[in-house]
Amino acid sequence: MDYFVIRGGQPLQGRVPISGAKNAALPILAASLLTPSELRLNNVPHLNDITTMIELLGALGGEVAVDESGSLCISALDLNSRRAPYELVKTMRASILVMGPLLARFGRAEVSFPGGCAIGSRPVDLHLKGFEAMGAQIDVRDGYIVATTEGGLRGCDFTFEMVTVGGTENLLMAAVLADGETILRNVAREPEITDLVRFLRAMGADISGDDTDTLVIRGVGSLNSCEYTVMPDRIEAGTYLVAAAATGGCITVEGADAEHLGLVLDKLRDAGVDVQVDGDAITADMLGKRPLSVDVITAPYPGFPTDMQAQFTALNLVADGVARITETIFENRLIHAQEMSRMGANITVDGHSVIIRGQEEISGAPVMASDLRASASLVIAGLAAKGETRVDRIYHIDRGYERIEEKLQSVGADIVRKMR
Ligand code: EPZ
Repeated sequence: MDYFVIRGGQPLQGRVPISGAKNAALPILAASLLTPSELRLNNVPHLNDITTMIELLGALGGEVAVDESGSLCISALDLNSRRAPYELVKTMRASILVMGPLLARFGRAEVSFPGGCAIGSRPVDLHLKGFEAMGAQIDVRDGYIVATTEGGLRGCDFTFEMVTVGGTENLLMAAVLADGETILRNVAREPEITDLVRFLRAMGADISGDDTDTLVIRGVGSLNSCEYTVMPDRIEAGTYLVAAAATGGCITVEGADAEHLGLVLDKLRDAGVDVQVDGDAITADMLGKRPLSVDVITAPYPGFPTDMQAQFTALNLVADGVARITETIFENRLIHAQEMSRMGANITVDGHSVIIRGQEEISGAPVMASDLRASASLVIAGLAAKGETRVDRIYHIDRGYERIEEKLQSVGADIVRKMR
């Protein structure tokens, strides 16, 4: 397994290009199953999770080609399977997102029950409840969820009892071909959902209510070809801005959308960072100072994103003051805290929160990644620490950050990937 060796302690300076958003590209790729027509997707990031989703589309009979510019050409004309196999689903939970499109287009979907992962049990009960409300029959057989519908899905008025990004995306995709009108209430409002709505609309779907907590979808008979460019990755952008703050440096992320980072930029400003926005470029300048401690409570968008929680934990390790960071979305997303303790951090877990007493200096140490964003936080901690940090199990990070060591090297980081 690959690992990173990081020699920290120097401020990062320079410009980083932001890739397409993983969490927008994944549902958009799944949505390609809704039409037999050819689709062209631009700005899809080259990540392990994207590769897994492309393999899944292939396993269903889809064809995906990558052209010289890196754009994807997708054809789901001749799908010969309705089954998302365990081997792929176990590596990527987002595979569950093929259920809505398969059910909507073919009246049948079989998806291996997505297991939990390091950050929590991550059930899909609300996805299934929504499909049943649309007239689907749900059975569980041999570890597979089998969803079927005889006469096709029908529109319904469904309220999510809790906000779920994947649940919103799955039911939205199911509803675009359902018979009649579907109202989805208490939906997630993440920008990635708005990107999916725009993609579906480009294919001819009839959807209103984007960016609100209620989506109204009027089913259409079929969907057509389109070309679409995936939105920039707000979490990747936020990660590099935090890395600048944690190392006392100055980084400009290019091709980002500051509107998607509202609270994240506010919190960086609270930490004493000079944040400037110039079109699609966002600059975080720590002005050579030590950051100030900032409290964070995660919440569904437009609240503070849970996917930025671990990165702000890393920032607080070297900040001036005491911070409390509370995770409200996932039941076990504080695993990185004990790894950070190995670096001399003064961090204690208190239920769903961590209390961090910032240190002038933390020291490099061997640490182990446990999930995607925890990995990123350990890299940030290593860049801020004095001495050498070795981050093991970086396959987690390769799922969600395109060329991370190259991008960090380009702004002066001493980080190398080693093969064991
Ligand atoms: C999406 O996961 C993202 N993944 C996650 O990003 C992100 O952290 C999460 O949304 C929250 O913003 C993708 O978009 C591929 P949820 P998802 O359904 O859809 C519970 C990353 O690092 N829940 O909004 O799985 C669930 O257990 C990843 O890029 C149910 O109880 O998140 C969790 O506690 C990590 N029943 C909470 O809701 C359900 O049926 C939010 O989950 C569905 C969810």
